[in-house]
Amino acid sequence: MLRMEKASNSVFANVALEFVRVTEVGAIAAARWIGKGDGKAADQASVDAMREYFNTIDFRGEIVIGEGAKDEAAELYVGEKLGTGNGPLIEIAIDPLECTDSVANGRPNAISVIATGPEGSLYRAADSYMEKLAVGRAAASVIDLDASVKDNIAKVAKALGKDISEVTVAILDRERHEGLIAEVRATNARVQLFTDGDVAMAIAACLRDSPIDILMGIGGSAEAVISAAALRTLNGEILCRWKPKDEKHVKRLNDAGVTDFSQILRTEDLARGNDISFIATGVITGPLVEGVTFIPEAITTHSIIMSTDPKTVRFIKTRHISNS
Ligand code: FBP
Repeated sequence: MLRMEKASNSVFANVALEFVRVTEVGAIAAARWIGKGDGKAADQASVDAMREYFNTIDFRGEIVIGEGAKDEAAELYVGEKLGTGNGPLIEIAIDPLECTDSVANGRPNAISVIATGPEGSLYRAADSYMEKLAVGRAAASVIDLDASVKDNIAKVAKALGKDISEVTVAILDRERHEGLIAEVRATNARVQLFTDGDVAMAIAACLRDSPIDILMGIGGSAEAVISAAALRTLNGEILCRWKPKDEKHVKRLNDAGVTDFSQILRTEDLARGNDISFIATGVITGPLVEGVTFIPEAITTHSIIMSTDPKTVRFIKTRHISNS
């Protein structure tokens, strides 16, 4: 029988509810830059708005994945402390604007997003690339990053009770994926190419009524950790393996202590233990949430909050009403 789990009153669950205001202000700030051809300005607007709001919240936060190292980013850098400094340490992985190019060009699927957890919970991924394979709960135990594309698709189709021709694989539209796309097509599965935003696509693979069944391909490492936080709530699985794109990335990873590029990282390795949360607000509509809309008297935002203890997914539609 399906039972409702006891509501949580932990500091982590409460702060996740508070953090939705941070992603809301980030999304609104970025949305003002939609289609203006300036992704950097959109990202900066989001960073400024989020950072200012963070520091009004009564918590003790530390960024473990952010805008870069301290010498590369003035705000929301890795190691930056946030909040008033009270309570247990909360680790934060943040992408103030996931899909800067989508905002610059007015394309779909941009979000302002935060993942949180207690000390030691979030994998401190250096900024590079990872090969990813993500599915929802029904297929979580059958995927294998060492197996062929064909085998993975066949197993996922079986687990979902679908014919292979009914399976849809989301893949980032990049030259590096030409071979992968051909392999997927050869199985007779369907391919959905997308220009940006593999966080939303990894999550879409876990949603029962979504047209996406699997996410495959190489994307950002920060996005892998943030996706994993959401998949912890959804009982999905994301398998990842480092794929540094050049020698500079290899060095960056080596400096961060990563030397084994064959190691497979699972959802639980990227977002460990209890009290993990994922908070996102849509900038431009995508598979996860709708984007920001402006009317003279109000701004409307759509957000999603996922928490692991107990496992809940909340959808929040907010009308920010103007006084003038
Ligand atoms: P940004 O937030 O940096 O714009 O990332 C968008 C994105 O599409 C991610 O979702 C994805 O993981 C990554 O870029 C892929 O990187 P690249 O665009 O270099 O292929």
